[in-house]
Amino acid sequence: MHQHTQPLQWRPRAVGENVAQQAGVRPPLIAPQPEQDRRLVRTRDNLAAGDLDDLVEIREGDALKTLRADLPDTIDLVLLDGAKALYPDILDLVENRLKPGAFVVADNADYSPDYLARVRSPANGYLSVPFGEDVELSMRLG
Ligand SMILES: C[S@@+](CC[C@H](N)C(=O)[O-])C[C@H]1O[C@@H](n2cnc3c(N)ncnc32)[C@H](O)[C@@H]1O
Repeated sequence: MHQHTQPLQWRPRAVGENVAQQAGVRPPLIAPQPEQDRRLVRTRDNLAAGDLDDLVEIREGDALKTLRADLPDTIDLVLLDGAKALYPDILDLVENRLKPGAFVVADNADYSPDYLARVRSPANGYLSVPFGEDVELSMRLG
């Protein structure tokens, strides 16, 4: 049992650091709702267990507020998996940081028809395809 513990703890960190360094990636942002305390504690515990906590910045609270300021200059990947109705508003906050080739992954995107219409309209600067069950993968074109 112990033999498995150490590699599982440090391997993700090594991979994360490698990828981050090679790609010049900034720490991912996680923006949970404040009432999700249990989830937040578990997230912190899991990141600490994987020795990944210094690679992730957690912004606690309403993403509509916490993502309003101090974003990195460029964003390579956005995962949308919060309130589906807010997908367009969250995209508004990060869109001007998406560099060409950046990906936006939206889970259960079918529940956000406005979002789907936006990313699927070529005039809005995305190449977008559905995949799996109800996931929309969109690449920023420029
Ligand atoms: C479907 S869960 C997914 C959580 C996580 N991605 C996972 O797989 O465990 C949606 C989460 O989004 C959070 N959420 C909803 N609206 C939010 C907002 N405006 N700001 C931050 N988090 C929000 C909810 O509190 C909930 O924890």
